[in-house]
Amino acid sequence: MILLDGKKTSEDIKTEITAQVSAMKSRGEKVPHLAAVIVGNDGASLTYVSSKVKACERVGFESTMVRLPSTTSETELLKKIHDLNADDDIDGFIVQLPLPDQIDTQKVLMAIDPSKDVDGFHPENFGKMALDMTTFIPATPFGILELLERYNVETKGKHTVVIGRSHIVGRPMSILMGRKGFPGNSTVTLTHSYTKNIAQITTQADIIITALGVPNYLKAEMVKDGAVVIDVGITRVADENSEKGYIITGDVDFENVSKKVSHITPVPGGVGPMTIAMLLKNTLLAREQRRK
Ligand code: GUN
Repeated sequence: MILLDGKKTSEDIKTEITAQVSAMKSRGEKVPHLAAVIVGNDGASLTYVSSKVKACERVGFESTMVRLPSTTSETELLKKIHDLNADDDIDGFIVQLPLPDQIDTQKVLMAIDPSKDVDGFHPENFGKMALDMTTFIPATPFGILELLERYNVETKGKHTVVIGRSHIVGRPMSILMGRKGFPGNSTVTLTHSYTKNIAQITTQADIIITALGVPNYLKAEMVKDGAVVIDVGITRVADENSEKGYIITGDVDFENVSKKVSHITPVPGGVGPMTIAMLLKNTLLAREQRRK
């Protein structure tokens, strides 16, 4: 069994980006600048955004964290987005999801200038992705592709089963694995809460990508021998023995599933760190495109 080590791979990518930023600096160029908007005080979201900002520092990017109260109106958030769109110093920005109920998420994502949409959530960028055009690929799916590529996992002609159809992970992942090229050329099945007999489908899968948020959902009997398993789940489960009071748990029953597979991502240390590295990659791309 080969562990797809997202922690190590993301460090490699950050080292590569750091070198590119140093080269930019030595040419007297402006370094990439990422802004992250967070509305409210959700603990997990705050942790993710802080990690994104910290990663910017690590590679030599500039970063700005914009914190807005949970009572922020849609109009106020849209105003902030217009300011970031117009700010020439900002190369790319993200609005951390989920947003409070009073805000229409789709309206917010559509307000982001597609050329600064480093999350790749704007319909224009999502459409480009589906049409194989160059664009910002959402960071989590992009990170999974990068892991498959760097570990040379064969995807051509394989049956990939994606569990979960979220706009952030499952849906784009299902599109990307079916695109031409590598990683891609897969036959894709997208499963979700209305899928019947899911185990019958997952046991046919060469590659399983779970993005469900249900701890230990994927059991050993749902996986065929030698499959590749990618676990996108990161759920906080209460644990009084741990320092923080919770442990991060994936969608996969790792202990049992890992005994059957050819490749598997751990949680933590798998897909999570890759997401952050690919956000940095998209921000670098945004900077390079704005320079042209
Ligand atoms: N919430 C969970 N994942 C993500 C992500 O990749 N980007 C943003 N903006 N919000 C998220």
